[in-house]
Amino acid sequence: MDIEKILLLPELQPIRERAKEWLEVLNRDIDFWHKESIMHTKEHVSRVLIYALLIGHHLELAEADLNILSTAAIFHDTRRKNDGLDVGHGKRAAEYYRSHVQVLGLDFNPTCYDIIYFHDRNDKKGIKALSHNPQAQSNGVLLYQAFKDADALDRFRLSLFGLDVRYLRTPPALELVPLAERIWLDYCKDF
Ligand SMILES: [Fe+2]
Ligand SMILES: [Fe+2]
Repeated sequence: MDIEKILLLPELQPIRERAKEWLEVLNRDIDFWHKESIMHTKEHVSRVLIYALLIGHHLELAEADLNILSTAAIFHDTRRKNDGLDVGHGKRAAEYYRSHVQVLGLDFNPTCYDIIYFHDRNDKKGIKALSHNPQAQSNGVLLYQAFKDADALDRFRLSLFGLDVRYLRTPPALELVPLAERIWLDYCKDF
């Protein structure tokens, strides 16, 4: 994957500097259990980070919310044991986030914890958790949906029919589908 070229795309300019900062954190400070992974690599996480920032930008989210999405992106698949559904990797990654977040110089954020924890569960469970967590912020459900959409936009790596747009939750994600497909085909696909 040619991340430098991806970051030069005109659509990415509004989020480019922020993405570069978080990519640096990802590559320097974040440890992945399943290092032989084919589907859930740091490259996948880098693209999810980019899509999360783009969705956040189009939703006109505050800086603190963009930081939550970025943090969720870099941690979300760190504690996978395999490339299957591996339900529970969200919970394990959330625990890694809790124990590691201070090392990154960041404060623990309950909304971010829940987004990571429930990203591998169905929306109903995640929305229930975010809306019932008294410590989670009021727009926690929107951030959860935005994050899951960012993860989904990278489903082109599974197959060209890997993304069913009917499952997308936010209008900006729907608009980003052609860009996500182009990024996969032009800069990532190596076969
Ligand atoms: Fe995941
Ligand atoms: Fe993922």
